[in-house]
Amino acid sequence: MTDRVTLIATAAFGLEMVVKNEVKALGFDNIKVSDGIVEFEAALEDIPQLNLWLRSADRVLLKMGEFKALLFDELFEQTKALPWESLITEGGQITVKGKSVKSTLASVRACQSIVEKAIIEKLKETYHISRLEETGAEFTIQVSMLKDIATLTVDTSGPGLHKRGYREKFVAAPLKETLAAGLVLLSFWNKDRLLIDPMCGSGTILIEAVMIARNMAPGLDREFASEKWPVIGDKAWRDARASAEAAREPGGKLEIFGYDIDERCIRACRVNARNAGVEEDIVFERKDVKDLWIDKKYGIIISNPPYGIRISEFSEMNEIYISLHKTFRKKKGWSLYILTADEMFPNYFKRAQPDRVRKLFNGGIKVNYYQYYGERPPPEGKREEGRVKRENNH
Ligand SMILES: C[S@@+](CC[C@H](N)C(=O)[O-])C[C@H]1O[C@@H](n2cnc3c(N)ncnc32)[C@H](O)[C@@H]1O
Repeated sequence: MTDRVTLIATAAFGLEMVVKNEVKALGFDNIKVSDGIVEFEAALEDIPQLNLWLRSADRVLLKMGEFKALLFDELFEQTKALPWESLITEGGQITVKGKSVKSTLASVRACQSIVEKAIIEKLKETYHISRLEETGAEFTIQVSMLKDIATLTVDTSGPGLHKRGYREKFVAAPLKETLAAGLVLLSFWNKDRLLIDPMCGSGTILIEAVMIARNMAPGLDREFASEKWPVIGDKAWRDARASAEAAREPGGKLEIFGYDIDERCIRACRVNARNAGVEEDIVFERKDVKDLWIDKKYGIIISNPPYGIRISEFSEMNEIYISLHKTFRKKKGWSLYILTADEMFPNYFKRAQPDRVRKLFNGGIKVNYYQYYGERPPPEGKREEGRVKRENNH
């Protein structure tokens, strides 16, 4: 396989530009963006770095080819013509997934099976074997048909990049880590600013914020499918992991607070923060948002309140919004970033109209990210912000 390859970082709807900026910050350019896709050229050896560092992307895919296919024969021949042997070794285990949108070849199962046959035939011919052993590294191939164009990719990530490995199983409705990181990256928060999530659930937003602030690679504690690919090799992975370890900045200097009404959430937050290695950076306390008491002039709220599904829950939601309104209506130095599916939110939080509303998806549900920008602190702002006053009973 040539050293230069085309990679696709997949992005949840609405996060494409965030993923693009991350890819750019990692040193890549000529980045093309379309729905859910951020495409760019890279070297094979860049695959470890991208998997370890991308915070808001879902996966990193290696693009093998793209062509028009109206007939199954065309799909077969053009798939077979691609250089699979340069990536997949003799014992490679192959899984083919598929999707088809607005295409003549509409049967996903048929497309998958044609692609699988074409790849296996190519490998058998190249390696002069009658059957594949399938005992080695895993290669998950995706055939995506869109308006009769077939795109063939191989997944370099394995489990989605949101699986950082720090979160314990828990019942609350947690955000995907990739979306939580995206919310932080879309905000104007930086590590010198006071940050609170007053309904922090399992703590995902705040844990992701600390990892950003301390330059911690989100993928350091997990494995990736392409770690076993001979074509990339151990050295590239070892080097990328070593430089990610070295890049990590020490903790203990941030002002980050997480509250939740549910004690079980607070316990889960502490476990998750410990798993992520950021427990010294976040203060978690049980607190009802109605009791949130702010005595600092500047700060940032990023939060994802519960959104009611049953009618009986709606009044409770409204109370939460009213509490936020009461606490922050005069606090012009506070920026609020609220992710909710409830379009009534701006009717209750009346400090001003949102400065920006972004449409995103959370677990398949259409949500809005309401952004209310506060006044910026003066340069010595950090000193002024100080700590949030603690309640006597904590
Ligand atoms: C959608 S979840 C937040 C999930 C979180 N972003 C995460 O990723 O884990 C909403 C949270 O709000 C909490 N909550 C509900 N009512 C509250 C209140 N009055 N005060 C504080 N927290 C509240 C719930 O316990 C729940 O954990």
